[in-house]
Amino acid sequence: MCFSCFFGNPVFVPAPNIDTIVSLAKRRGFVFPSSEVYGGLGSAWDYGPLGVELCNNVKQAWWRWLVHERDDIEGVDSSIILNRLVWKYSGHEATFNDWLIDCRKCNGRFRADKIVDNKCPSCGASDWTEARPFNTMLQTKLGAVAADDPTALAYLRPETAQGIFINFLNVQTTMRRKLPFGIAQVGKSFRNEVTPGNFILRTREFEQMEMEYFVAPTAEHSKLVDYWVEQYLEWFGSLGINRENLFLYEVPSEELAHYSKRTVDIMYKYFPEREKPWEELMGIAWRTDFDLGTHSKNKLDAEGKRINPDSTEDLSYFDEVAKQRFYPHVIEPAAGVNRTVLAVLMDAYSEKTNDKGETRVILKLSPQLAPIKAAILPLAKNKPEIVGMAKAIKRSLQPVLRAVYDDTGGIGKLYARQDEIGTPFCITVDHQSLEDEAVTVRDRDTWEQERIKVTDLAEHLQKRLKPFPVPESI
Ligand code: GAP
Repeated sequence: MCFSCFFGNPVFVPAPNIDTIVSLAKRRGFVFPSSEVYGGLGSAWDYGPLGVELCNNVKQAWWRWLVHERDDIEGVDSSIILNRLVWKYSGHEATFNDWLIDCRKCNGRFRADKIVDNKCPSCGASDWTEARPFNTMLQTKLGAVAADDPTALAYLRPETAQGIFINFLNVQTTMRRKLPFGIAQVGKSFRNEVTPGNFILRTREFEQMEMEYFVAPTAEHSKLVDYWVEQYLEWFGSLGINRENLFLYEVPSEELAHYSKRTVDIMYKYFPEREKPWEELMGIAWRTDFDLGTHSKNKLDAEGKRINPDSTEDLSYFDEVAKQRFYPHVIEPAAGVNRTVLAVLMDAYSEKTNDKGETRVILKLSPQLAPIKAAILPLAKNKPEIVGMAKAIKRSLQPVLRAVYDDTGGIGKLYARQDEIGTPFCITVDHQSLEDEAVTVRDRDTWEQERIKVTDLAEHLQKRLKPFPVPESI
């Protein structure tokens, strides 16, 4: 059945809010509330069979794009727990704070910067305590030590970036790199968020994809920020995110982090139903030479004193052409895996309703991100030859792409199930397949069907599994 036969003139509806995605994600095995058997754990989420595939595909697409397809970026995977001094000299121990206030009426505790119109979000009162800092690094203790031994204190990293800075020299010398070049890392970060929430948008455990791009102090830093903004807009486009749902926010100087001279946030329309629909998807910051300088033993302050008496290394760089030694500046595009996944899901979600009021969800994921690339469906599950052929096709596709076999319903139901989880291709094996060694390949978005020889199937699918072309509007 073709698309228009079933739907006539379908009405397309995008995801109206995050709750729609929460419900789909749970129903279809993308994301589950964590620790549910014990009543849950506030704002912690577990990724199910489809969610883990989607996350992995986002991370792989990012890694391929930056580390494999460019010539100027290396990758690392540093420890989550670093020497505590890293966080002292990075400034996180002193400044990685949220400002807390308590409502005197209902005793609710909130982040001061998130209060709208000075009103308590719980009870509406405007009677607040003074704001006080709360350090959001998650603490742990290393080794078998007494509970109050201060030397055992360690932190779960709040950003992956510091693991890159402290390895700058290792990477630069072992890979014989000259400026400009970048180092990328993907991995978990942790923040003791005061008010986590909105599904996977703000959690205490999350994943980051960060890249530190090292350049000379004389480079055009602001232009480089613009360059990386453009690069990421294009990349998000290739993941299927509509440019109209992205918004650039030039962070005002009073909001900049202590290390930044300029930051542009790429915001996504996570709250289409609200007056203020935007929330940060990622940030692109010019971090100056702050990080390499602060971790270096030779860097001096304005009065000629070493700023870091604990460091045993100097993370400066010698420019052979200019015959100069300096601390490189850094342009940092820092993105969240979970926020990218949420944006991808919201943008891919579409509901289609036909003239009779029948509605179907179709998840129009970019083929490269789809958790399952092909579903092999036998048209008659009581015919051993058809079932055998379908299973053999699934096995032959497995080494090249993620394929599943499903015979647990009528064909209409099986198609609908795959549409809802974003599978780009359904492959049906029917009676004729036994004779002509060919199958029907159905396209998720157009519902058009093509007859393809089994021997050509893997190549045919691989050709069509390319990333979405970048929309012209970008
Ligand atoms: N190294 C710079 C840095 O960490 P950030 O803006 O604090 O910058 C970068 O974080 C990205 O990490 C954010 O844009 C967001 O995508 C993600 N992120 C930060 N905190 C998060 C949280 N609590 N939950 C989910 N993602 C988070």
